[in-house]
Amino acid sequence: MSVRKAVIPAAGLGTRFLPITKVVPKPMLAVLDKPTIQYIAEELLSVGIDDVTIVVSPGSEIIKDHFGESNELEKRLLADGKLELYSILKDTMKFKVNYCVQKVANGLAGAILCAEPFLNGEPFALLLGDELLWANEGQTPCIKRLVDVYNKTGKSVIAAMEVFGDDVSKYGNIGVREETDGVITVDRIVEKPSLNDALSNYAIIGRYVLSGEVIDMLKKLTPRNNEIYLTDVLDQLAERGDLLASGFEGDRYDVGDKFGFIKANVEFALKSKEIGDLTAEYIKELAKKL
Ligand code: UTP
Repeated sequence: MSVRKAVIPAAGLGTRFLPITKVVPKPMLAVLDKPTIQYIAEELLSVGIDDVTIVVSPGSEIIKDHFGESNELEKRLLADGKLELYSILKDTMKFKVNYCVQKVANGLAGAILCAEPFLNGEPFALLLGDELLWANEGQTPCIKRLVDVYNKTGKSVIAAMEVFGDDVSKYGNIGVREETDGVITVDRIVEKPSLNDALSNYAIIGRYVLSGEVIDMLKKLTPRNNEIYLTDVLDQLAERGDLLASGFEGDRYDVGDKFGFIKANVEFALKSKEIGDLTAEYIKELAKKL
């Protein structure tokens, strides 16, 4: 079965961004002029997936509002002939979004289980709400690459990037069984290993395409520290030879982290037609003073 559905977990506490996340969910923080979650939803357009379930925390009406209708503003922009702005507004409304509320932030696996009623046992793309993947002109978007690999093999596939030094211990780590044409058959997964225990330099990042059976596997897990972990299911799939990993083209920004967020904003400002040149000039001037 081809991949028609996607889940974006966006119900985390966002403690690294307090105090703004006291009221504003982290995926609503803007990179330049667009909330992170809209960039993520737009990644899905590259694979024609428009059936998206966003997992939100209680009281996250602002996310629904962002993707919802905006009648008054629409009418006003049309009446004023501001068609470019109207089209920007329209772009926020083109997704078919389902919402489910994760009552208690009990982790990523809990968020995925919350979305179960919308998945009907089908395979689904999983895109973490605080990572931005950007494909430049001519590059294949990360999620498209994963969907292509899934459609070819029918096996769950995760996105991987190379990391070095201390960064190895910040991510789930992949053991390589074999590697052909840029696709790795995963042997094992270890969560945030010490440098000595790392299986390779490949880290798991926040894009996945998972087969429908992952939901049942999550339900059967025995909790560790009162929590269940997606990585435990990935490890089970890997043990059976049923988990693949793929690299990706383009740039990744961890916008759930303050420095990653600033990097994304600076780089997106530099890419912007409107303020790119101004930003570049400013950065050059600023650099002289550093
Ligand atoms: P993080 O691990 O970054 O957690 O979640 P967080 O709570 O958002 O942020 P910090 O660490 O407290 O600052 C990774 C992704 O999984 C979602 C988050 O919204 C984020 O997109 N998530 C996490 C959920 O949807 N539910 C959870 O219970 C936990």
